[in-house]
Amino acid sequence: MSIARPAARRLVCLSAAAAPGAAAAPATRAPCQQAAVFAHQFHSSPQLSARRRPRFANVRAADMGLMDDKQIDQFTKEKFPKYTPEEIEHLRTKYSPEQIAALEAGEAAIDPRDLTVQGRLRVDPYTMPYIDDFAETQPIIDKRARNKEAPDPHARFMNMDEFTEDLIRWADKFQTGEVTGTLKTLADFVPEQYKKTPEGQWPGDVREAAHKSFQLYLEAEVSKQAGKDADDTAGPTDADILQYILERSAMTDGNRTTDTSLAHGLPSKVPGVAGLYKNAIDPEDKGLDDIGVYQDLKRRTGLSVAEILGLQSKKIVHRFVANQTRLGKVRKASVMFVVGNGNGWLGIGEAKSTEPGIAALKARLMAIRTMQPIRRYENRTIYGSVTSKVSGTVVKMEARPPGFGLRVPHRIFEMCRAAGIYDLAARIPRSRNPMNTVKAAYWALTHQPDPDEIAMGRGKKLVDVRKVYYGGDVY
Ligand SMILES: *[C@@H]1O[C@H](CO)[C@@H](O)[C@H](O)[C@H]1NC(C)=O
Ligand SMILES: *[C@@H]1O[C@H](CO)[C@@H](O)[C@H](O)[C@H]1NC(C)=O
Ligand SMILES: *[C@@H]1O[C@H](CO)[C@@H](O)[C@H](O)[C@H]1NC(C)=O
Repeated sequence: MSIARPAARRLVCLSAAAAPGAAAAPATRAPCQQAAVFAHQFHSSPQLSARRRPRFANVRAADMGLMDDKQIDQFTKEKFPKYTPEEIEHLRTKYSPEQIAALEAGEAAIDPRDLTVQGRLRVDPYTMPYIDDFAETQPIIDKRARNKEAPDPHARFMNMDEFTEDLIRWADKFQTGEVTGTLKTLADFVPEQYKKTPEGQWPGDVREAAHKSFQLYLEAEVSKQAGKDADDTAGPTDADILQYILERSAMTDGNRTTDTSLAHGLPSKVPGVAGLYKNAIDPEDKGLDDIGVYQDLKRRTGLSVAEILGLQSKKIVHRFVANQTRLGKVRKASVMFVVGNGNGWLGIGEAKSTEPGIAALKARLMAIRTMQPIRRYENRTIYGSVTSKVSGTVVKMEARPPGFGLRVPHRIFEMCRAAGIYDLAARIPRSRNPMNTVKAAYWALTHQPDPDEIAMGRGKKLVDVRKVYYGGDVY
């Protein structure tokens, strides 16, 4: 039963009670019962009595006049007539004699009277079409067409040997002479005891005789072949060759012909692009760089991987920086590296990344790329005194005598160690900002005055007294 019914009744009750006329009624029950009569009209489902009756009267075969023999015969004649001779003639033009025979057998097997009594002539919209088109699949009725077997994912292009074998196998289909591999070989023409040994170990006369008879045998085969070809010209035709080119698979997937609509998947390793997408391991690295971190650097600097790994490097500045965006602070690590070979070369590199490790690697690689030669006096100190300024940071450096040592702030100390400077004094009188200290020190080291150049500019000759005094041997 519908749960809407009591609600509808209650609704009418309330409205009836609220009506001004209903308030004057003596009995409280009476308006509700009256309202129940109207409630039927509000309801959408038909009454029980109405629902029991079918909407349409049954159609009986007797009413349709299909029950007595005369009417059945008439209906059958109307709806399922026999083929006229003209129609049969027409069918003969469309079907082969076997198909016509099958049609006639089918016609004879089914009594059209049975069709009238037991069958049903459908005229509804869901009637199956009399003519079916099997060229198209109807997803509702038909089973899903099974796809072809997927291409072999491990298939690769044949190599030269495999291709040759495949070609020979194909050519053997067109037999005009002996099947490939059935001709006799040179070893068939030597005495039994030499058959196993290689040709080089046969005695000279045996080998000569074998070659001679083998030659005769081959000539005989060729002439036999020529005589055969003259009368029957079997062999691959142009069509066969075209088919071979178009359809024969050049891949090692078991002779499956290529399918233009379902192309073979490319193998995971295509020979033509080998090494283009992955760093090829260079044997000259001796296994030092199998991941390929230094390959680019190797090309740019001309250093070998062993040399790159032998450089002294030091992380001298590490700080976190943040970019304030509307989504919040984006923090990154900012790293500065100093790299030197300990013998006059020095570079600094700076890099940022969200990953500190990656920032350090990038900074180190950058430092190696920017390495420059540093002028050193006697391979131990700088030339004279230099001052440099980056932003608010000033670095003052002065050359010192042998044995003085490195009396410098710690970041400059690391730079001197990497560059191979052993005697130096340095001061940072103003701001001691780490990054600017390093940049200013690097600038100072790479912009030392060259006394020889200055002397030459003044038209004078410079003589190093220390070298003169010690006879050129100051170490
Ligand atoms: C290709 O077919 C030939 C014969 O038709 C057969 O001997 C050979 O094994 C097949 N090759 C593969 C890879 O299945
Ligand atoms: C900071 O973020 C903004 C917005 O995403 C971007 O445009 C800007 O380049 C960033 N600055 C730095 C230094 O990364
Ligand atoms: C400085 O070092 C270089 C490289 O090691 C060397 O060739 C050169 O002779 C050295 N100079 C002096 C003055 O010793």
